[in-house]
Amino acid sequence: MYRHARAPRIYTSAIYRKSTDGSPIPAETKTVQETKNPNTTMSVSISQVSFEHHRDPLGIGEPKPRISWRFSGNAANWEQGSYDLQITRGGRQSTYSNASSESLFIPWPEDALGSAEQAHVRARAHGLHGESSTPWSDWVAVETGLLNPEDWTGAVPIAAKRAYDINSPKRPMYFRKAFSVDTDIKSARLYITGLGIYEAEINGNRVGDAVLAPGWQSFNYRHVYDTYDVTDLIKSGDNAIGVIVGEGWYSGRLAWDGRNYWGDNVGLQSLLTIVTRDGEKLSFPSDDSWAASTGPVVGSEIYDGETYDSRLEADIKGWSTASFDDGAWFPVKKLPPLKGALMSPDGPPVRKLEERKVEKIFKSASGKTLIDFGQNLVGWLHLSVQGPAGTNITMHHAEVLENGELALAPLRAAKATDTLILHGKGHQEWEPRFTFHGFRYAQIDGWPEDAPLTEDSIKAIVVHSDMEQTGWFSCSHALLNKFHENVRWSTKGNFLSISTDCPQRDERLGWTGDAHAFGPTANFLYNTGGFWRGWHRDMWSEMQRRDSMIVPFFVPTVPPDSQDPGAAVWSDVSVGGPWNLFRFYGDRQMLEEQFQQGRAWIDKGLPRNEVQLWDRGAFQFGDWLDPKAPAEDPGGATTAKPLVADAYLVRMTEILANVSRVIGDSSLAAEYSKQHESLRTEFQKAWMSADGRGTLANKTQTAYALALHFGLYTDANQRELAAETLRQIVADNNHLVGTGFAGTPALGPALQGIGAAEDFYSMLLQTKVPSWLYQVVMNGTTTWERWDSMLPDGRVNTGSMTSFNHYAFGAVADWIHATIGGLAPAEPGWK
Ligand code: BGC
Repeated sequence: MYRHARAPRIYTSAIYRKSTDGSPIPAETKTVQETKNPNTTMSVSISQVSFEHHRDPLGIGEPKPRISWRFSGNAANWEQGSYDLQITRGGRQSTYSNASSESLFIPWPEDALGSAEQAHVRARAHGLHGESSTPWSDWVAVETGLLNPEDWTGAVPIAAKRAYDINSPKRPMYFRKAFSVDTDIKSARLYITGLGIYEAEINGNRVGDAVLAPGWQSFNYRHVYDTYDVTDLIKSGDNAIGVIVGEGWYSGRLAWDGRNYWGDNVGLQSLLTIVTRDGEKLSFPSDDSWAASTGPVVGSEIYDGETYDSRLEADIKGWSTASFDDGAWFPVKKLPPLKGALMSPDGPPVRKLEERKVEKIFKSASGKTLIDFGQNLVGWLHLSVQGPAGTNITMHHAEVLENGELALAPLRAAKATDTLILHGKGHQEWEPRFTFHGFRYAQIDGWPEDAPLTEDSIKAIVVHSDMEQTGWFSCSHALLNKFHENVRWSTKGNFLSISTDCPQRDERLGWTGDAHAFGPTANFLYNTGGFWRGWHRDMWSEMQRRDSMIVPFFVPTVPPDSQDPGAAVWSDVSVGGPWNLFRFYGDRQMLEEQFQQGRAWIDKGLPRNEVQLWDRGAFQFGDWLDPKAPAEDPGGATTAKPLVADAYLVRMTEILANVSRVIGDSSLAAEYSKQHESLRTEFQKAWMSADGRGTLANKTQTAYALALHFGLYTDANQRELAAETLRQIVADNNHLVGTGFAGTPALGPALQGIGAAEDFYSMLLQTKVPSWLYQVVMNGTTTWERWDSMLPDGRVNTGSMTSFNHYAFGAVADWIHATIGGLAPAEPGWK
């Protein structure tokens, strides 16, 4: 096919000088010819310019956001030698250049942005050895949120003035405020958070598409607010804003049967700012001039579900529009300032990201109507229905069936039940707002008889944090592909504002050990930088709450004053998590920001014995849920808890030495290296036989995998013997898995490190229990908490802790990506 030769593009380029501190320098500009050869199809361009770890840089908290860019194209061996940045703000444009190969986290080269200030940025890069340059990227807007508490100009937390029982589930509340704007609007922003979970509307239209906002934080320290561009929702003339708030995590029932952990009300704090065409700035803060009411969402709890009475819709019709009469509504009152600092989000919001069709509608053994979506997922149902007023439709959710009925035991005390009461005035579309469920099956009771339930009446909505997908995997082995798909589904289901252990029962907590094991896998599959950054901020706050500097079992901690003792592997995520983030995203500054956590935990929090190993009396989870642990004693694994703890301690100390080196603190690096060596010697004394053979105290997969993978052998002969022993243990076990949470991530790398990758392939492709593919042949569609969450005869494991959506054992996917896929970051940030 004939192709037009493109005319060479003319653009300005800079005289390149190298800056000393990595920040770009103002450029002298000149005009040059583009060096790209128009006759070749080889090209390179900048596909994405981003700021800090934000997916959408609107309302960010960094006044000097660091800039990164990503390339696309097919130019072979192309390398950046220099770059230009252009920044436009407030009508002036500046160009900066640097002779640098860096393209990640480039320091902001100008004065800090003010509150709510917008700038536009673009970048281009030039090849190292006279190779072609990229064209300028698209302009990308970046805008700060409210950077200082004063910027909230009069906005305070508000709640309805009404009597209610704080010890019962709180009824979601509707808030509203009418306002008028005389002139045309140039731009408008809504800054908002909930004391609970909020959904906002302006003039009858939904604001944004986030759900379950602002998510879950350690609200005593950090309370996230969101920023929305609402320019198109506001008109000159009369307007109204409305916000519905459910109790959510903030004041609802959470683990261990507590409620009101951060507050005992539902409310909101918001500021609507408008810039008119004339340049006038107007602001409408949440204050006691608002009104509040109850409405059709009559109850909504995270664990128990939502009840919606559509008959009450008539009372509040048009509630978020200007013409609505709120004369009969409650007044509102100002509440004291929020306990936590109002902070803009680091990670992306939770959104509705997929829909699943019904796969099958059928009757259970006892005649109940059941729906199978063919996929264990997290989210809720969407109903299309019509029926007589007062018809009460209930929806129970469950992950699996047992004896042909929903298996509800694994939910423990979570009711996971939604109820819709019909208004009887025609067709209705409905879904809940302030709850979520982990389910594949639903039982539908009370569906109206004259309009039968069909595949078109119900669909499942999948929700999770809207992280960018960055990793994919497929191979020629169908079961392994399915397993990997299950790993992804468990990631989606458990990355909902925070990373949770499970999404379905009365738990759903930010367990640290699970996150430690699974971090590298998640970082490969999605861009998790911002997601974890916020979580680590909370971890640091929770640590500082106590002088002991203990990393709690889960973050956010409940109850917020919990005095839990921390534990190896779990609390160690304060060291391993940041290191994994650095490997994947190359953000030195974030590593430094998070370094203090790891140091505080290892130097101060971690209880030691006289030789600086773990205090033998300390609490441990150990190799949680190894396949031999009894159903009711998940910590009763075959490898001694302190052995596991000590092995991790040696490795964590080595990581601290690595981090010290990365951030350029050589004396600290020397100090941690010294500690590392001495701890390793103590480990050998404590756990290896004194006969010179280095036999470990436990002849288990986990003991040997940890010792080999963490480099705990210093004697080559002993290491050789240990390698032989591990191979033998695995062969004697018929290539079935023998590890729990602590040993699983190390097993593949350990076998590979001793030249036994083939043995690990045999383990990975096993289908008998316990193995990864056992779950697949048992029709699992997510990864399970226990190797045998479902027993071979189809019964649910009787343990009182049996989830079908736990990601920890899916940590093996990191090995799949690195070894089968051949991809792992050779240099931090995949450089
Ligand atoms: C959770 C875990 C967690 C564990 C702590 C369980 O209830 O579901 O996955 O790590 O407790 O041992």
